[in-house]
Formats: sequence, C-alpha cells, structure tokens
Amino acid sequence: MSFLTRDGGGAEEEVVTEIATGARLLPHITIQAFCEQSQTAELVDSCVQDRRMSKVALTTHNGGLDGAIETYRANPTPNLIIVETSLPPEEILSALERLAEVCDAATRLIVLGHTNDVHLYRDLIRSGVSEYIVLPANAQVIVTAITELFASEGAAPIGRSIGFISAKGGAGGSTVAHNVGWAISQTLRQETLILDLDFAFGTAGLNFNQDPPHGIADALGANQKMDQTMLDRLMSKAASHVNLLTAPVVLDKPFDFEERDFEQIIELSQRVAPVVILDIPHAWNAWVRHTIATIDEIIIVAEPDLANLRNAKNISDTLKAMRPTDSEPLLVLNQIGLPRRPEIAPLEFATSVECQLIGQIAFDAVTFGTAANNGQMIAEIAASHRANEVFRNVGMHVTGRAVPERAAGKSSLKLPSFLKRKRA
Ligand SMILES: Nc1ncnc2c1ncn2[C@@H]1O[C@H](COP(=O)(O)OP(=O)(O)OP(=O)(O)O)[C@@H](O)[C@H]1O
Ligand SMILES: [Mg+2]
Repeated sequence: MSFLTRDGGGAEEEVVTEIATGARLLPHITIQAFCEQSQTAELVDSCVQDRRMSKVALTTHNGGLDGAIETYRANPTPNLIIVETSLPPEEILSALERLAEVCDAATRLIVLGHTNDVHLYRDLIRSGVSEYIVLPANAQVIVTAITELFASEGAAPIGRSIGFISAKGGAGGSTVAHNVGWAISQTLRQETLILDLDFAFGTAGLNFNQDPPHGIADALGANQKMDQTMLDRLMSKAASHVNLLTAPVVLDKPFDFEERDFEQIIELSQRVAPVVILDIPHAWNAWVRHTIATIDEIIIVAEPDLANLRNAKNISDTLKAMRPTDSEPLLVLNQIGLPRRPEIAPLEFATSVECQLIGQIAFDAVTFGTAANNGQMIAEIAASHRANEVFRNVGMHVTGRAVPERAAGKSSLKLPSFLKRKRA
C-alpha cells in the first residue's frame, strides 16, 4: 500500500475487503506505543478492539520519541514500537537514530507523523522504518499496517527457534531449556512457546506442573489441517507468557518420525510466538539431525566429563559442517561441582569442544530436585539462586540481546532493522 493512500479512501477500501474475506489474526506479539498527544494515545488504544489484535499485548505511553528512548535505555524492546513525532521532517531521522541505539535488533518501528511528505516517507522506509502513517488516521489503518508487517503472506516469521540438546542423557538439556524459556518470557515479557520433542519421556509437563489434554502429538497428527489457529488452541498456558506443547508420554506405540516431520510445526510456531524453545531428546535419528540443522540457535548442554566432552564435540563438529553459514552451536555446562566427581575444567572443556561457553551451572541437588518434584522453575522456588542469572544470560544471548552492553548504557551490538541500511 502506498503512503498516499494511508489517509485517503484507498486504505479504507482495503481494510473493508480484508475484514470481509476473513482477516488474519496477528500473532502473540508485544507492541508499545509512545504518543505525544492524548488523541493519538486514544487512537492507538482503540486498536485493541479490532479482532485482528486479539492476541496482541499493546501498551500505550506518553512522551513520544524521547519517552521511547528513555524507556528502552533500561528496558527490553517489544516486537513493535509505535512512536508519534511532531518533529520537523529534517530532524526525524537523527532522532530515530538515537532510538535505534537503545533498541534490539529484531524490533520493528511504525512512525506516526504529522507531515504528509512523500520524500520523508521514502527516507524513513529506506532507513528501515516499517511504516509511516500520517495523522489523523483511524485505527483500521494502523491495525492494517501492523497486520501487513506481521501476518501478511510474505511476512517473515516473528519467532526465533532455539533448540536445546544434551550431550549425554540426563545432562540437563530439558531443565535448562525450560528455565531459559521461563527467563526469556519473564525478562522480555514476550510469548514463549516450548515444544517438548521427547514424545516418550518428555518432562515439560511435569516441570511446569501441567497435564493438558492436548499437546505436540495432536499438532503433529493434524498434518495438513494444522494452521496457526489450531496451534493456538492446542498449546496450553503454563504461566504468563509461557506456552507449552507437551509430549504425550505414553508407551503404547513407538514414536518413529520422518526426517521432515517437525518442519511444519516449528515453522507455524514461529508464526505464532516470538520465542520458540525446542526441548530435543538426546538421540541421533534423521529428524533430530535435520531439525537441529535448520533452527536458528542450538545450545548443547553438557556435564563436565569425558563422555559429554566427546559427544559435545561430535555434535558441534557435525552441526558446523551441516550449517556452515548459520550461527554456531553454543555450549552450556551443567551440574558442575558434583561432590567427589573428577571434572574437566569449564574453559578447557569449551576449548576442546571449540564452542562458545555461554553458561555454567553448578550442581545443586536440593534446589533442582525440589523444583523438579514441585513442578516449578528454579526462579519460583529460589529467586536469588545464581542459576537464574545464567538462565537469563543464555536467554538474552540466544534472542540477540547483548545484556552487558545494555546494562552499561551502550548501544546493542546488532542494530535494529530500522536504520540498519542507513548505517551499513
Ligand atoms: N544443575 C543441576 N543440579 C542438580 N540436578 C540437576 C541440575 N540440572 C538438572 N538436574 C537434574 O538432572 C535430572 C536430568 O535433567 P533433565 O531431565 O533436564 O536432563 P536431560 O538431559 O534433558 O535428560 P534426558 O536425557 O532424559 O532428556 C533431573 O532430575 C534434573 O532435575
Ligand atoms: Mg530431556
């Protein structure tokens, strides 16, 4: 849709057709708006009444661009920022640059402005701003712009797929996956979907104290009928922002999958939730190999002993060879300091495996055992436990957030998509 139709009749027409043909629902995204005028705040607030916004978490704040910059100095950015500005056209880009300094790489931006100027529009779009809407506008125009960004045919999936695999059975891949998922959901307040791919023995249900009637087996069984609406219905809510597709955990039949069986569910999950965590069983069959070769990030969870080291190195080498241009696997060492066990020093372990070590978690039978038996996360039973910081750091790392830089008030390492092209 062109800029000039934004506040004209064309946009209205398009909206009407879209609703008539069954409007697409937006996925579980977070949107924060920073408005200058109260009418604009009311306009943005009214967007939630649109059916397409039913799964969206939208909050509206005052303060315009400066308010947004101030907020994101200290807080994580949502999937989409909407910002109103009444700055003169020549000052908008430099103000947006200051906003880009404090935003995460994946965040998108819609600007609401008061100048109907095609050159400004082109400059903003060229800079990576997703849309520029001239005020006054109506809520449908705004929702349609958001829908085009996140739910149109050609929209890129919003979710990041992050898989955890243990180097050896019992190393803690599932525990780390669930707690990292929890940490991401609570820190970034983004919808997180955890897929338990260990059909026979998975523990996601137990660890979150959930026994939902549906789970990943229903999603897989639905085959071609599977779509985003159905996925939404099948997943169960374990806590705020935490959603599960639990494993069936029945042994009446074997679970043998084809190499590509999980492709569709993972892809759909990435269209439904911004963060998709895969709890991958410790196995090496065609589908495991294929799945871990195709997702965004892989974390190998290992205990500091020789068998784990050998396996972690094998998994890592294989993955690097299979996906030479993708992100390299990352390493988390777990259960460090098991009493009386001779262990390989963490740095030595990471050097041998040739993987970046992004987390070290101590063995703590009481805390981890209590959490597992209660069906709770470590943060729920021991908020100040050191493992929570590790889970958070791992979560921020795999979602592309550079925590130390952010905390120090410096810009994030990866530029957000807006202003990326301008700076490149
Ligand atoms: N840091 C830790 N300290 C103590 N116990 C731990 C720690 N991490 C995990 N555990 C415990 O180890 C056991 C195995 O953990 P988990 O199920 O996460 O491992 P896994 O590698 O996913 O196992 P599987 O091979 O069955 O998939 C669980 O009982 C869990 O509570
Ligand atoms: Mg497991």
